[in-house]
Amino acid sequence: MGRRQIDSEPTRWVSLTLLLMGLVSCSLVYMFVTTVLRPDESSDFSSISEAESVGVEENGGGCCRGIDNFELWGAAVKWGSDFKFNSSIECCEACKAMCSGNDGPCLCDSWCWLKKQQDPLAPDKREGGDNIWTSGLIFGKGEGIVKLQTQYGTLHIKLLPECAPRSVMYILELLTMRHCAGCQFYRAEGRGQSWDSKGNHLKAASFGPPFALIQGTLEAEGVTFKKIPTEECPILERGSVAWIGSGPEFFISLANHEEWKKSYTVFGYVLPEDMAIAEKIATLPTIPDVWNKINVSVLEKPVSFSFKRINKVSMKS
Ligand SMILES: *[C@@H]1O[C@H](CO)[C@@H](O)[C@H](O)[C@H]1NC(C)=O
Ligand SMILES: *[C@@H]1O[C@H](CO)[C@@H](O)[C@H](O)[C@H]1NC(C)=O
Repeated sequence: MGRRQIDSEPTRWVSLTLLLMGLVSCSLVYMFVTTVLRPDESSDFSSISEAESVGVEENGGGCCRGIDNFELWGAAVKWGSDFKFNSSIECCEACKAMCSGNDGPCLCDSWCWLKKQQDPLAPDKREGGDNIWTSGLIFGKGEGIVKLQTQYGTLHIKLLPECAPRSVMYILELLTMRHCAGCQFYRAEGRGQSWDSKGNHLKAASFGPPFALIQGTLEAEGVTFKKIPTEECPILERGSVAWIGSGPEFFISLANHEEWKKSYTVFGYVLPEDMAIAEKIATLPTIPDVWNKINVSVLEKPVSFSFKRINKVSMKS
Protein backbone atom coordinates (compact mmCIF):
# COMPACT_ATOMS: atom_id res chain seq x y z
CA MET A 1 0.00 0.00 0.00
CA GLY A 2 1.95 2.95 -1.12
CA ARG A 3 2.56 5.51 -3.74
CA ARG A 4 3.75 2.79 -6.03
CA GLN A 5 0.32 1.25 -6.15
CA ILE A 6 -1.33 4.51 -6.98
CA ASP A 7 1.12 5.16 -9.77
CA SER A 8 0.33 1.83 -11.31
CA GLU A 9 -3.31 2.78 -11.69
CA PRO A 10 -3.93 1.55 -15.21
CA THR A 11 -2.70 -1.94 -14.44
CA ARG A 12 -4.73 -2.06 -11.31
CA TRP A 13 -7.90 -1.03 -13.05
CA VAL A 14 -7.50 -3.45 -15.87
CA SER A 15 -7.25 -6.28 -13.41
CA LEU A 16 -10.31 -5.05 -11.61
CA THR A 17 -12.59 -7.29 -13.58
CA LEU A 18 -10.72 -10.23 -12.14
CA LEU A 19 -10.48 -8.63 -8.74
CA LEU A 20 -13.21 -8.82 -6.38
CA MET A 21 -15.25 -6.06 -5.49
CA GLY A 22 -17.37 -8.37 -3.60
CA LEU A 23 -20.81 -7.46 -2.60
CA VAL A 24 -22.38 -9.56 0.01
CA SER A 25 -26.07 -9.92 0.55
CA CYS A 26 -27.80 -12.09 3.07
CA SER A 27 -31.47 -12.79 3.33
CA LEU A 28 -33.67 -11.67 6.14
CA VAL A 29 -33.85 -15.19 7.47
CA TYR A 30 -30.27 -14.85 8.53
CA MET A 31 -30.29 -11.26 9.50
CA PHE A 32 -28.58 -10.25 12.67
CA VAL A 33 -30.19 -8.56 15.64
CA THR A 34 -29.78 -4.85 15.97
CA THR A 35 -29.90 -3.32 19.41
CA VAL A 36 -30.06 0.38 19.98
CA LEU A 37 -27.99 1.46 22.93
CA ARG A 38 -27.68 4.71 24.68
CA PRO A 39 -24.72 6.82 23.69
CA ASP A 40 -21.68 6.36 25.83
CA GLU A 41 -21.68 9.58 27.81
CA SER A 42 -18.28 8.92 29.26
CA SER A 43 -16.55 9.32 25.93
CA ASP A 44 -14.54 12.44 25.60
CA PHE A 45 -16.23 14.06 22.60
CA SER A 46 -15.71 17.48 24.09
CA SER A 47 -12.03 17.29 23.42
CA ILE A 48 -12.91 17.83 19.79
CA SER A 49 -16.22 19.64 19.87
CA GLU A 50 -19.52 19.36 21.56
CA ALA A 51 -20.97 15.97 22.25
CA GLU A 52 -23.90 14.89 20.17
CA SER A 53 -26.49 12.33 20.98
CA VAL A 54 -25.72 9.36 18.83
CA GLY A 55 -27.61 6.13 18.42
CA VAL A 56 -25.10 3.37 18.74
CA GLU A 57 -25.69 0.42 16.49
CA GLU A 58 -24.33 -2.54 18.35
CA ASN A 59 -24.35 -5.45 16.00
CA GLY A 60 -21.08 -7.00 16.96
CA GLY A 61 -20.09 -7.01 13.33
CA GLY A 62 -16.65 -5.59 13.93
CA CYS A 63 -15.26 -5.03 10.48
CA CYS A 64 -17.85 -7.23 8.81
CA ARG A 65 -20.74 -4.86 8.79
CA GLY A 66 -23.56 -4.52 6.35
CA ILE A 67 -26.50 -2.19 5.81
CA ASP A 68 -29.96 -3.56 6.52
CA ASN A 69 -32.80 -3.20 4.00
CA PHE A 70 -30.32 -2.47 1.31
CA GLU A 71 -29.43 -4.46 -1.74
CA LEU A 72 -26.61 -4.22 -4.17
CA TRP A 73 -27.22 -5.29 -7.71
CA GLY A 74 -24.69 -6.94 -9.90
CA ALA A 75 -23.62 -10.12 -11.60
CA ALA A 76 -23.52 -12.90 -9.06
CA VAL A 77 -20.12 -14.49 -8.98
CA LYS A 78 -21.68 -17.74 -7.98
CA TRP A 79 -24.88 -18.97 -6.44
CA GLY A 80 -26.34 -22.24 -5.35
CA SER A 81 -28.12 -23.75 -2.41
CA ASP A 82 -25.63 -25.74 -0.38
CA PHE A 83 -24.04 -22.86 1.39
CA LYS A 84 -26.12 -20.97 3.86
CA PHE A 85 -25.19 -18.83 6.78
CA ASN A 86 -27.06 -17.91 9.90
CA SER A 87 -26.15 -14.27 9.86
CA SER A 88 -24.92 -11.59 7.55
CA ILE A 89 -21.75 -11.44 9.63
CA GLU A 90 -21.00 -15.11 8.95
CA CYS A 91 -21.79 -14.53 5.30
CA CYS A 92 -19.42 -11.59 5.17
CA GLU A 93 -16.69 -13.49 6.97
CA ALA A 94 -17.04 -16.41 4.58
CA CYS A 95 -16.84 -14.07 1.61
CA LYS A 96 -13.83 -12.29 3.03
CA ALA A 97 -12.11 -15.61 3.58
CA MET A 98 -12.59 -16.37 -0.09
CA CYS A 99 -11.18 -13.00 -1.04
CA SER A 100 -7.83 -13.48 0.59
CA GLY A 101 -5.99 -14.00 -2.69
CA ASN A 102 -4.73 -11.10 -4.71
CA ASP A 103 -7.03 -11.60 -7.64
CA GLY A 104 -9.75 -13.81 -6.37
CA PRO A 105 -12.14 -15.16 -7.33
CA CYS A 106 -14.28 -14.61 -4.29
CA LEU A 107 -17.07 -17.12 -4.23
CA CYS A 108 -20.08 -17.18 -2.00
CA ASP A 109 -23.52 -18.38 -2.70
CA SER A 110 -27.12 -19.14 -2.01
CA TRP A 111 -28.49 -16.87 0.68
CA CYS A 112 -25.12 -15.38 0.87
CA TRP A 113 -24.51 -13.87 -2.51
CA LEU A 114 -21.30 -12.45 -3.69
CA LYS A 115 -21.75 -10.02 -6.53
CA LYS A 116 -19.27 -8.26 -8.66
CA GLN A 117 -19.58 -4.55 -9.38
CA GLN A 118 -18.55 -2.85 -12.57
CA ASP A 119 -17.53 0.19 -10.62
CA PRO A 120 -16.60 -0.32 -6.99
CA LEU A 121 -16.86 3.40 -6.27
CA ALA A 122 -20.39 3.62 -7.68
CA PRO A 123 -22.14 0.44 -6.60
CA ASP A 124 -25.50 -0.36 -8.12
CA LYS A 125 -27.89 0.24 -5.23
CA ARG A 126 -31.43 -0.95 -4.67
CA GLU A 127 -33.04 0.66 -1.69
CA GLY A 128 -36.48 0.40 -0.25
CA GLY A 129 -38.32 0.02 3.02
CA ASP A 130 -39.30 -3.58 2.46
CA ASN A 131 -36.01 -4.75 1.12
CA ILE A 132 -35.14 -7.96 2.92
CA TRP A 133 -31.44 -7.92 2.19
CA THR A 134 -28.43 -6.83 4.16
CA SER A 135 -25.54 -5.78 1.98
CA GLY A 136 -22.04 -4.54 2.32
CA LEU A 137 -18.95 -3.87 0.29
CA ILE A 138 -15.63 -5.64 0.35
CA PHE A 139 -12.95 -3.80 -1.57
CA GLY A 140 -10.29 -5.85 -3.24
CA LYS A 141 -6.67 -5.10 -2.53
CA GLY A 142 -5.68 -1.59 -3.62
CA GLU A 143 -9.33 -0.63 -4.27
CA GLY A 144 -11.44 1.97 -2.57
CA ILE A 145 -8.95 4.81 -2.47
CA VAL A 146 -10.31 8.31 -3.03
CA LYS A 147 -8.57 11.66 -3.32
CA LEU A 148 -9.28 14.55 -1.01
CA GLN A 149 -7.92 17.50 -2.94
CA THR A 150 -6.83 20.70 -1.23
CA GLN A 151 -4.78 23.63 -2.44
CA TYR A 152 -1.93 22.23 -0.35
CA GLY A 153 -1.94 18.83 -1.96
CA THR A 154 -3.99 15.67 -2.30
CA LEU A 155 -4.65 13.28 0.54
CA HIS A 156 -5.30 9.74 -0.67
CA ILE A 157 -7.79 8.09 1.63
CA LYS A 158 -8.39 4.37 1.81
CA LEU A 159 -12.05 3.81 2.65
CA LEU A 160 -13.13 1.10 5.08
CA PRO A 161 -16.55 -0.08 3.89
CA GLU A 162 -16.47 -3.28 5.88
CA CYS A 163 -15.99 -1.32 9.09
CA ALA A 164 -18.16 1.69 8.31
CA PRO A 165 -20.52 0.86 5.41
CA ARG A 166 -22.93 3.74 5.92
CA SER A 167 -20.14 6.26 6.24
CA VAL A 168 -18.51 5.00 3.08
CA MET A 169 -21.81 5.12 1.17
CA TYR A 170 -21.98 8.80 2.04
CA ILE A 171 -18.44 9.43 0.78
CA LEU A 172 -19.29 7.57 -2.44
CA GLU A 173 -22.27 9.88 -2.81
CA LEU A 174 -19.96 12.90 -2.47
CA LEU A 175 -17.81 11.40 -5.21
CA THR A 176 -20.68 11.68 -7.66
CA MET A 177 -20.80 15.46 -7.13
CA ARG A 178 -18.68 17.67 -9.30
CA HIS A 179 -17.94 19.89 -6.34
CA CYS A 180 -18.02 19.40 -2.65
CA ALA A 181 -19.22 22.94 -1.97
CA GLY A 182 -18.95 23.67 1.71
CA CYS A 183 -16.53 20.84 2.44
CA GLN A 184 -13.63 22.35 4.34
CA PHE A 185 -11.16 22.06 7.17
CA TYR A 186 -11.67 24.81 9.73
CA ARG A 187 -9.60 23.68 12.70
CA ALA A 188 -5.97 22.67 12.70
CA GLU A 189 -3.77 21.65 15.60
CA GLY A 190 -0.33 20.14 15.38
CA ARG A 191 1.28 17.46 17.51
CA GLY A 192 2.93 20.10 19.69
CA GLN A 193 5.29 18.71 22.30
CA SER A 194 3.02 15.75 22.98
CA TRP A 195 3.36 13.32 20.07
CA ASP A 196 6.33 12.36 17.92
CA SER A 197 6.36 12.28 14.12
CA LYS A 198 5.06 8.71 14.14
CA GLY A 199 2.14 9.79 16.28
CA ASN A 200 3.35 8.17 19.48
CA HIS A 201 2.61 9.97 22.68
CA LEU A 202 5.66 11.25 24.50
CA LYS A 203 6.14 10.24 28.08
CA ALA A 204 4.82 12.66 30.66
CA ALA A 205 3.57 15.05 27.98
CA SER A 206 0.06 16.48 28.09
CA PHE A 207 -2.71 15.19 25.85
CA GLY A 208 -3.23 18.64 24.36
CA PRO A 209 -3.99 21.32 23.49
CA PRO A 210 -2.90 21.21 20.73
CA PHE A 211 -4.80 18.00 20.00
CA ALA A 212 -2.97 16.76 16.88
CA LEU A 213 -5.80 16.82 14.37
CA ILE A 214 -7.29 18.66 11.46
CA GLN A 215 -11.04 19.02 11.66
CA GLY A 216 -13.63 19.96 9.08
CA THR A 217 -17.04 19.27 7.69
CA LEU A 218 -18.28 16.92 5.01
CA GLU A 219 -21.63 18.60 4.64
CA ALA A 220 -21.88 19.50 0.98
CA GLU A 221 -24.38 21.73 -0.75
CA GLY A 222 -26.84 19.65 -2.70
CA VAL A 223 -26.36 16.49 -0.67
CA THR A 224 -28.70 15.64 2.17
CA PHE A 225 -26.73 14.64 5.19
CA LYS A 226 -28.37 12.05 7.40
CA LYS A 227 -26.79 11.42 10.78
CA ILE A 228 -24.58 8.39 10.59
CA PRO A 229 -25.01 5.80 13.32
CA THR A 230 -21.89 4.74 15.16
CA GLU A 231 -20.02 2.09 13.21
CA GLU A 232 -16.67 0.48 14.01
CA CYS A 233 -14.75 2.60 16.52
CA PRO A 234 -11.18 1.41 16.81
CA ILE A 235 -8.52 3.30 18.75
CA LEU A 236 -7.57 6.31 16.63
CA GLU A 237 -4.24 6.09 14.91
CA ARG A 238 -2.20 8.64 13.06
CA GLY A 239 -4.00 8.97 9.73
CA SER A 240 -7.41 7.78 10.92
CA VAL A 241 -10.32 9.62 9.32
CA ALA A 242 -13.25 9.69 11.72
CA TRP A 243 -16.61 11.31 12.34
CA ILE A 244 -17.19 13.51 15.33
CA GLY A 245 -20.35 11.99 16.74
CA SER A 246 -22.65 11.19 13.84
CA GLY A 247 -21.12 13.70 11.41
CA PRO A 248 -20.96 15.70 9.22
CA GLU A 249 -18.06 17.10 11.27
CA PHE A 250 -15.00 14.90 10.93
CA PHE A 251 -11.28 14.93 11.56
CA ILE A 252 -8.02 13.42 10.50
CA SER A 253 -5.87 12.38 13.42
CA LEU A 254 -2.20 13.32 13.37
CA ALA A 255 -1.44 11.12 16.36
CA ASN A 256 -2.29 7.82 18.00
CA HIS A 257 -5.00 8.91 20.39
CA GLU A 258 -5.29 5.96 22.77
CA GLU A 259 -6.51 8.38 25.42
CA TRP A 260 -9.74 8.96 23.46
CA LYS A 261 -10.52 5.25 23.64
CA LYS A 262 -12.99 3.86 21.11
CA SER A 263 -15.22 6.87 20.71
CA TYR A 264 -15.23 7.69 17.03
CA THR A 265 -16.39 5.91 13.90
CA VAL A 266 -13.35 5.53 11.68
CA PHE A 267 -14.26 5.25 8.00
CA GLY A 268 -10.89 5.58 6.33
CA TYR A 269 -7.26 6.36 6.72
CA VAL A 270 -4.85 8.68 4.95
CA LEU A 271 -2.08 6.83 3.16
CA PRO A 272 1.08 7.37 5.25
CA GLU A 273 3.00 9.17 2.50
CA ASP A 274 0.30 11.85 2.34
CA MET A 275 0.39 12.67 6.03
CA ALA A 276 2.89 15.42 5.28
CA ILE A 277 0.05 17.34 3.62
CA ALA A 278 -2.14 16.98 6.71
CA GLU A 279 0.82 18.15 8.79
CA LYS A 280 1.21 21.14 6.52
CA ILE A 281 -2.41 22.15 6.99
CA ALA A 282 -1.81 21.88 10.73
CA THR A 283 0.86 24.58 10.48
CA LEU A 284 -1.37 27.17 8.77
CA PRO A 285 -2.18 30.35 10.72
CA THR A 286 -4.88 29.87 13.33
CA ILE A 287 -6.88 31.92 15.79
CA PRO A 288 -7.34 30.67 19.36
CA ASP A 289 -10.89 29.96 20.42
CA VAL A 290 -12.61 28.19 23.30
CA TRP A 291 -15.24 25.51 22.67
CA ASN A 292 -16.82 23.83 25.67
CA LYS A 293 -14.02 25.19 27.83
CA ILE A 294 -11.47 23.57 25.54
CA ASN A 295 -8.79 25.71 23.92
CA VAL A 296 -8.87 25.12 20.19
CA SER A 297 -7.13 26.58 17.13
CA VAL A 298 -9.37 27.65 14.29
CA LEU A 299 -7.90 28.25 10.85
CA GLU A 300 -7.74 31.89 9.83
CA LYS A 301 -8.73 30.79 6.35
CA PRO A 302 -10.64 27.52 6.12
CA VAL A 303 -9.15 25.05 3.64
CA SER A 304 -11.77 23.85 1.20
CA PHE A 305 -11.45 20.51 -0.52
CA SER A 306 -13.22 18.18 -2.89
CA PHE A 307 -13.36 14.44 -3.31
CA LYS A 308 -12.25 12.87 -6.54
CA ARG A 309 -11.95 9.32 -7.61
CA ILE A 310 -8.71 7.97 -8.92
CA ASN A 311 -8.99 8.04 -12.71
CA LYS A 312 -9.53 4.65 -14.21
CA VAL A 313 -6.98 5.26 -16.90
CA SER A 314 -4.96 8.41 -17.29
CA MET A 315 -6.51 10.17 -20.26
CA LYS A 316 -3.40 11.75 -21.66
CA SER A 317 -3.41 12.40 -25.38
C1 LIG B 1 -27.10 -22.34 11.76
O1 LIG B 1 -27.78 -22.56 12.97
C2 LIG B 1 -28.30 -23.89 13.09
C3 LIG B 1 -29.11 -23.95 14.37
O2 LIG B 1 -28.53 -23.21 15.39
C4 LIG B 1 -27.14 -24.89 13.08
O3 LIG B 1 -27.62 -26.20 13.19
C5 LIG B 1 -26.39 -24.73 11.80
O4 LIG B 1 -25.25 -25.56 11.80
C6 LIG B 1 -25.94 -23.29 11.60
N1 LIG B 1 -25.38 -23.17 10.27
C7 LIG B 1 -24.21 -22.56 10.05
C8 LIG B 1 -23.76 -22.55 8.63
O5 LIG B 1 -23.54 -22.06 10.93
C1 LIG C 1 -6.50 27.92 27.61
O1 LIG C 1 -6.00 29.19 27.23
C2 LIG C 1 -5.92 30.10 28.30
C3 LIG C 1 -5.53 31.44 27.75
O2 LIG C 1 -4.46 31.34 26.86
C4 LIG C 1 -4.93 29.60 29.35
O3 LIG C 1 -4.86 30.48 30.44
C5 LIG C 1 -5.40 28.23 29.82
O4 LIG C 1 -4.47 27.67 30.72
C6 LIG C 1 -5.61 27.30 28.66
N1 LIG C 1 -6.20 26.05 29.12
C7 LIG C 1 -5.66 24.88 28.86
C8 LIG C 1 -6.39 23.70 29.39
O5 LIG C 1 -4.63 24.74 28.20
